[in-house]
Amino acid sequence: MSNSTTPAVIRRADYTPPAFLIDTVALEFNLVPERTVVRNTMRLRRNPDAAPTATLELMGEQMEFISATLDGRPHADVHVNENGLSVSNIPDAFELTIESACKPAENTTLSGLYVSGGNFFTQCEAEGFRRITYFLDRPDVMATYTVTLRADKTAYPVLLSNGNLIEEGDLGDGRHFARWEDPFKKPSYLFALVAGKLVKLEQRMKTGSGKEKLLQVWVEPHDLDKTQHAMDSLVHSIEWDERRFGLELDLDRFMIVAVSDFNMGAMENKGLNIFNTKYVLANPETATDVDFSNIEAVVGHEYFHNWTGNRVTCRDWFQLSLKEGLTVFRDQEFSADMAAGLEPGAASDAARATKRIDDVRVLRQMQFAEDAGPMAHPVRPESYVEINNFYTMTVYEKGSEVVRMYQTLLGRDGFRRGMDLYFQRHDGQAVTCDDFRHAMADANGRDLAQFERWYSQAGTPRITVRARYDAATKRYVLTLTQGYAEASEAARATQKGPLLIPFSLGLIGKNGADLPLKLDGEKEPQGTTRVLEFTEQEQTFTFTDVAEEPLPSLLRNFSAPVVVDYDYTNEQLAFLLAHDSDPFNRWEAGQRLATRELLALADRASKGEELTLDDQVVSAFAQVLDNTTLTPAFQELALMLPSEGYLAEQMAVSDPAAVHAARVFVSRRLATGLHDRWLAVYEANRTPGEYRATPDDAGKRGLKNLALAYLSQLDDPTRAIELASAQYDAANNMTDRSAALSALLTAGASGSVDTTVADAALSDFYQRFESEPLVIDKWFALQATQRGGPKRNVLEIVRKLMQHPAFTLKNPNRARSLIFSFCGANPAQFHAADGSGYAFWAEQVVALDAMNPQVAARLARTLEQWRRYTPALREQAHAALEEVASKVKSRDVREIVEKALG
Ligand code: TRP
Ligand code: ZN
Repeated sequence: MSNSTTPAVIRRADYTPPAFLIDTVALEFNLVPERTVVRNTMRLRRNPDAAPTATLELMGEQMEFISATLDGRPHADVHVNENGLSVSNIPDAFELTIESACKPAENTTLSGLYVSGGNFFTQCEAEGFRRITYFLDRPDVMATYTVTLRADKTAYPVLLSNGNLIEEGDLGDGRHFARWEDPFKKPSYLFALVAGKLVKLEQRMKTGSGKEKLLQVWVEPHDLDKTQHAMDSLVHSIEWDERRFGLELDLDRFMIVAVSDFNMGAMENKGLNIFNTKYVLANPETATDVDFSNIEAVVGHEYFHNWTGNRVTCRDWFQLSLKEGLTVFRDQEFSADMAAGLEPGAASDAARATKRIDDVRVLRQMQFAEDAGPMAHPVRPESYVEINNFYTMTVYEKGSEVVRMYQTLLGRDGFRRGMDLYFQRHDGQAVTCDDFRHAMADANGRDLAQFERWYSQAGTPRITVRARYDAATKRYVLTLTQGYAEASEAARATQKGPLLIPFSLGLIGKNGADLPLKLDGEKEPQGTTRVLEFTEQEQTFTFTDVAEEPLPSLLRNFSAPVVVDYDYTNEQLAFLLAHDSDPFNRWEAGQRLATRELLALADRASKGEELTLDDQVVSAFAQVLDNTTLTPAFQELALMLPSEGYLAEQMAVSDPAAVHAARVFVSRRLATGLHDRWLAVYEANRTPGEYRATPDDAGKRGLKNLALAYLSQLDDPTRAIELASAQYDAANNMTDRSAALSALLTAGASGSVDTTVADAALSDFYQRFESEPLVIDKWFALQATQRGGPKRNVLEIVRKLMQHPAFTLKNPNRARSLIFSFCGANPAQFHAADGSGYAFWAEQVVALDAMNPQVAARLARTLEQWRRYTPALREQAHAALEEVASKVKSRDVREIVEKALG
C-alpha cells in the first residue's frame, strides 16, 4: 500500500468528541431534479467536553455552496475546502444558516439525495447527509429536525420526512409544501425524505399503552397489490418488541417506503424506513417463500432499529456492531418466534432450529471466509478507509453471535435485565460496544471483562476437543483447547488471549438418549444439556457417574461462532444424525459427514482420480428421507449438500473445478441411489389449493423442490423434465414456478438432453413477468447461476444478457441479479481455468466504479480470496486485480483491491 494516491486511514484510537454540538436543525428543500436548493438553519454551541477550536469544520461533498448567515447576518468568514466548509470568527453559541444546492438527477451513487423512477429519495447512512447539506455529519452529534419540503404538486404529490406531519398546503403556481417535525433527537444518518407519485396501504393499530398509531407502506401505484405482507410483518414486529423486550413504538406514525434503486436491503431512518423493493413487495405470483421470510426479517430488522440504533445510537462508526449485531440478533429471534408460532412443543422447536441452521449456514459460508481473507477485522474494527466497506458479515452476523452469547451465558431473563439497564442508562445517547457489555455485566452482577476480546480479536476461533472415558470410575473427561483457525496476518495481530466461550454440550448413550449431566463436585445431575464456560487456553471438564461411554454432542445449537474439531467416525456421525436430541447438531452431523466425503472426493478429482462414494452417506440420507418424525423443512436442510463456496474454503488450496466435480458426482449418486424415495417425497409434499406462506407449507415446497432438483440430475432426467414442466405450467406461486424452471435448466445441462424445453420455459417466464422487475431479476439470476454444459457456456450467456434491453448496470438489483450472481454464486464458472471470469469481473468493477462505488466495492470483494486458489488461478486473478487497481478511482474499491493485493 505504498501507492501515493492511497486514501487516508481512519483509526478508532483517534476518536475525539466533536468541538461543537447542534441542538436543532431546520431544513427547507426546494425539490427540483436538476438542481435542488437546500436551506439549513442550525443552532450550534461549543461542546463543553471538547477542546476549544477557532473554526467550525462542517463536512460537505458534491455540493454547490450558495450563502451563509450567522445569527441572521451575512458571514464572510466561511471557506469552502475539499472536505466541506470552515467557519471562523464565531461565538460560543449561534445560529448558522447555509444555503447550498445539489443535483439529484445526476446522482448515480444512490447516496445523499437522488432520483429513482422519477421520485426523490435519500440515503444518509453512513455519510450521505454531507451530500445534502454542510453539517457535522457524525453519529455523536444528535439534534431535533424540522423539515419543510416544497415541490411541484403534480409531479410530487406525496411529500414525506421523519416524524409527524405538522402542516401542509398549497404554494400557488402549481407547487405545494409539507412540514415535518421529528420530536426525537437523532444523528444526521437517520434523516430521510421521500417525494413523488406514491400510493399507500395504511392501517391503524393500538400499542401496549393504548395509543393509536398510523402505519403506512408507500409504493408506486402498480405495486399496491404487493404490500400486505410487509404491513403484516410490521404489525408483528411491533407486537413482538413489546412482548419480548417491553419496547413500544414511540412515534404516532410509522412509514415504510419502497424504492427500486437502492444500494442495500433497507434503512432505518426515524419513522420513515426506506426499503429496497426486494424487501417489501410480495404476492404469491411474484415472490418465493424465501422472499416472504426475508421481507418479514428485514421489516423486523429496520423496525427494531428504532430502539437499538435510533433511540440509542453509535458514538462513532467503529461501534457499528452495537446497533447492527444487536439488531440482527433481534430480527433472528423474531423470525424464530414467528416460525415457531406461539404454542410450545416439538414442532416449534424444529421450526426454531431450521431458522438457526439457516443463520449459521450464512455465517459459516460468508463470515468465516471473510475472517480468513484480507478484509478480516474484529467485530469492532480498529481502522477503515471507507466506512461503507465495513457493513460486513463480521459486523452484522458475527456481531449477532456475540450478542447471542450474552443470552446463552446469562439466560433469557438475565439478557432482558441487561437490555433494560442499557436503555435506562443510555436512552438518547450515542454510545459504545463497551457500554452495552457493561450494562449486561452490571445488570447480572458479573464481570465480563474477558468477553471484550470478542470485539477486538479477528479470526475464527478453533476449539479442539479430546475425550477420555474411564469405565472403572465412570468418569468422562473432556479437554478443550482454544486457538484460532488459519488467519491472515492482520487477523493474527489482533489475537491476544483466550476468549470466554459458552460451550453447550450433551452426552448421548448407546440407545440414542441423552445422559444426565453431573460435573465433578456436583451432588445431583443438572439436565441433559449444559453450557460450560470455557475461558482458558486449555481446560478440562469432568463428568461423573457416567454409566456408559457416551458419544458427545458438542456446541449444541452452535452456542459460539467457532470451529470445533473432534474426530468422529462416519458411523458416529450417522448415529448423531439419527438420534441427537439437539436438532442443530443433528443437522450438523449430516453436514460433517457430507463435507468429509466431498473434500476427499474433491482431492481425488483434483488429481484426476476415479470418484466413489461411501455407502454410509447414501444410507444416512435415506434414513433422513424415511424419518417421518422430522419436519419437511428440517429434512430439506439435512439433505442439502454444503455449498461449493463453503467446500472450497475448507481446502488447503481451493480448487473450484474439483469441488464442483465432487459435488456434482455426489448429487448424481444421491439422485440415482435414492431415486424412488425422491419421487415419493415429491408426491407426498405437494401443497394443493390456495397458496399459503406458512412455515409448514413453505417447508413442504422446499423439500419437494429439493427432490425435483436431485431428480433433474439423473443421467436420464426424462421424468424430472415431465414433472418440472407440469409444475411450471400449473404453479400458482413463484416458489414452485422458479424451482421448476431451475430444474429444467439443470436437466438441460447434461449434454445428452434437448434444451428446447428449458429455453421455452425461460422465454415464457420472461413474457409472463416482463412488467415485474423483481421477477426479471430472478430470470437473470437463474441464468447466471446455471450449471452450464457443452451447449451452454454460461459466461457467453451472461455477456449476451448484458445486451438485453431489460439489463442495466445502473440499477443495483439488476447488476446483482446478473453480474454478482455469476461472480459470487457460480464458482465453477467464475473461476474458469482460462481466466475469462476474472477478466469479466475486472471490466464490470471498473464500469460500476464510475457510477456507484459502494456497489462496485461489493463486486470487487468476490475476488478477495484469490490467494487461496490453485497457482494457475492465482496468476490470472492477480492480473485482473492489478488491472482494476490501475483503473479505479473510488476510495471504496481502492481499499478492497489494495487490501487484496496486500
Ligand atoms: N443500517 C442499514 C441496516 O442495517 C443498512 C445500511 C447501511 C444501508 N448503509 C446503507 C442501507 C446504505 C442502504 C444504503 O438496516
Ligand atoms: Zn441494520
